[in-house]
Amino acid sequence: MAGLAVVILAAGQGTRMKSALPKMLHEVAGRPLLGHVIKRAQELEPQRIVVITGHGADAIEAHFKDAGLLFARQLEQLGTAHAFLCAAAALEGHTGDVMVLYGDTPAIRHSTLKAALEAHRHAQAGMTVITGELPDATGYGRIVRDASGEVVRIVEQKAASEIELKLTEWNSGMYIFDSSAVELARVIGNKNAAHEYYLTDILELYRQQNKRVVAFKADSSELEGCNDRVQLAAADRTLRLRIGEALMRGGVTLRDAATTFVDDTVRIEADVILEPGVILRGATVIGRGSVIGAYSLITDCQLAENVTIKPHSVLEGALLDRGAQVGPFARIRAGSRLGVNVHVGNFVEVKNSTLLEGAKAGHLAYIGDADLGCEVNFSAGAITANYDGVHKHRTVIGDGAFIGTNATLVAPLTIQQGAFVAAGSTITTDLPEGALGVTRAPQRTVDDWSERYWTKKLAGAKPNKNPVIQSWLEARKPK
Ligand code: UD1
Ligand code: CA
Repeated sequence: MAGLAVVILAAGQGTRMKSALPKMLHEVAGRPLLGHVIKRAQELEPQRIVVITGHGADAIEAHFKDAGLLFARQLEQLGTAHAFLCAAAALEGHTGDVMVLYGDTPAIRHSTLKAALEAHRHAQAGMTVITGELPDATGYGRIVRDASGEVVRIVEQKAASEIELKLTEWNSGMYIFDSSAVELARVIGNKNAAHEYYLTDILELYRQQNKRVVAFKADSSELEGCNDRVQLAAADRTLRLRIGEALMRGGVTLRDAATTFVDDTVRIEADVILEPGVILRGATVIGRGSVIGAYSLITDCQLAENVTIKPHSVLEGALLDRGAQVGPFARIRAGSRLGVNVHVGNFVEVKNSTLLEGAKAGHLAYIGDADLGCEVNFSAGAITANYDGVHKHRTVIGDGAFIGTNATLVAPLTIQQGAFVAAGSTITTDLPEGALGVTRAPQRTVDDWSERYWTKKLAGAKPNKNPVIQSWLEARKPK
């Protein structure tokens, strides 16, 4: 927006979080509280965004160092007007409007801020205060209006009279000011019960300048801050349901929005189905037509079109090409790439490995630090022995190779195209193209061994010890 600067107050301590982590960095819907507010500010395309930091300043500034922000430190938390004035140097030379936001109100909507700014400009107001309505606004500053309905004052809880305490319109602490805000804020004193510099006092200063002060009413649920973990959970739920609704409007099916957790940072194309209990986090992207099965957790993954994730699968940092099928109960770890139509079934773990088109690992396998060619069959119970206790080594398997059940592939190892590893083999040397690798000991078959074994074992045992074996032995006794 032309002629707009945004100041975000974020220096407060957040004692009630009872946390070593600065309050502003507590996450809702996959983003820190302050991150949501910064995003809202950025969506307004202002000329500058100034963040006032204090408690946890180092951590907060480090977290958002690449977000194109200006930071100003408030060394002592002497009140909201004092915090605002810490932005004075950063606002030097700015001639337009100034919007003030709080860093702990993640539910504020872009549409609300945009509408408030438009109303402010349309009314040619000196100051606009964004307000909410609550039957009981205990704790908040109340909006005091005169007989004609003009906003005349904001009275803090501590200073409010009996009658004022009954007022239902409350001050969100979000404002839009004209360019005289810094100058006026310098006049604010701290002669009040809390000995704090109250930014709310600026309202009367604007009126003394014969400037209009207007209120812009918004839904209280958008304005409430997060001071403790209960409010944090409430904000998380609000944002989550909002994200879910936006997804549904964008053509995504959520079978149960109440149990679906999609971070604000995730992107999902149309015609995707999310079953109950799905959790999608971080930089995850889900391509058109994909189905994510119940109770699956996907973090920082990119899924192309028509990928199927069956229930209870856990994926992190992986790329899945179109038509890939994973799960149920599969784990795909960082650095993995599953090609077109790759199938990874139940109880299979894949780590830092590439599986090319059509490769299959249907059941109970470990594929770690490996490169599997097209149409490789990696059977049940087969594993790559990728770790020698000191280093990790790669296993390379050529197109169409067949890895039998329970094979152990000791890396570093190369199995060439079309080679065949017999079930139960431990392979330690490279296999040339089309070769068979087998390390099984020859089978010995000992006739009647079992009968002799059990007869000896069960001699003297109570008759009911092993009824099935007992009756089998009985039946085999020469008549
Ligand atoms: C303030 C308003 C009150 C309003 C309420 C809404 C004043 C005097 N009162 O209350 O009318 O209803 O917000 O939540 O402004 N902060 C700083 N530095 C400070 C003090 C606060 O950065 O020295 C930041 C906090 O991190 C927070 C925001 O400002 O993001 C509000 O501070 P908080 O103490 O919660 O506001 P109140 O004074 O209780
Ligand atoms: Ca507060």
